[in-house]
Amino acid sequence: MTLRDVLLDPSIFAKPMAFEPERWLSDNPDLQRINQAYVPFGKGSRMCVGLNLALAELYIVIASVFRRFDMELYDTVRERDVDAVRDCFIGETSPESRGVRVKIVEAYRSSLLAREK
Ligand code: HEM
Repeated sequence: MTLRDVLLDPSIFAKPMAFEPERWLSDNPDLQRINQAYVPFGKGSRMCVGLNLALAELYIVIASVFRRFDMELYDTVRERDVDAVRDCFIGETSPESRGVRVKIVEAYRSSLLAREK
């Protein structure tokens, strides 16, 4: 299946392009239904065996990056750099896209480094 078609299907995930992390909280009455359709790692007996490692890495990397850097989007246009606008077997962004880019506006010293000094 094409992940994008499932994960961005508004009949499954309400407002799929909106950043609504609270949809994953236990008080969402729809949680069981959306969990069933959460397929980035596949489902069933052949699903990704690296799921827990991948999630652990993602949590650490995302937390480290957002804690250390204040960023703003740089030369990023949703229609060109985010939306799928062409068919390359899977949906792809425009060929002109250089990806979603950010500019570091401030870098913080990590509290770990600060303690070592
Ligand atoms: C964000 C990171 C990752 C994503 C989105 C991802 C996604 C997937 C998907 C969609 C499948 C196919 C599942 C299916 O056929 O139903 C798969 C299979 C697999 N993945 Fe991952 N994966 C990730 C990271 C990893 C990591 C870190 C490892 C190993 C350390 C790993 C090892 C495997 C293996 C061995 C399979 C084949 C399982 C089988 O066929 O029985 N993956 N992964």
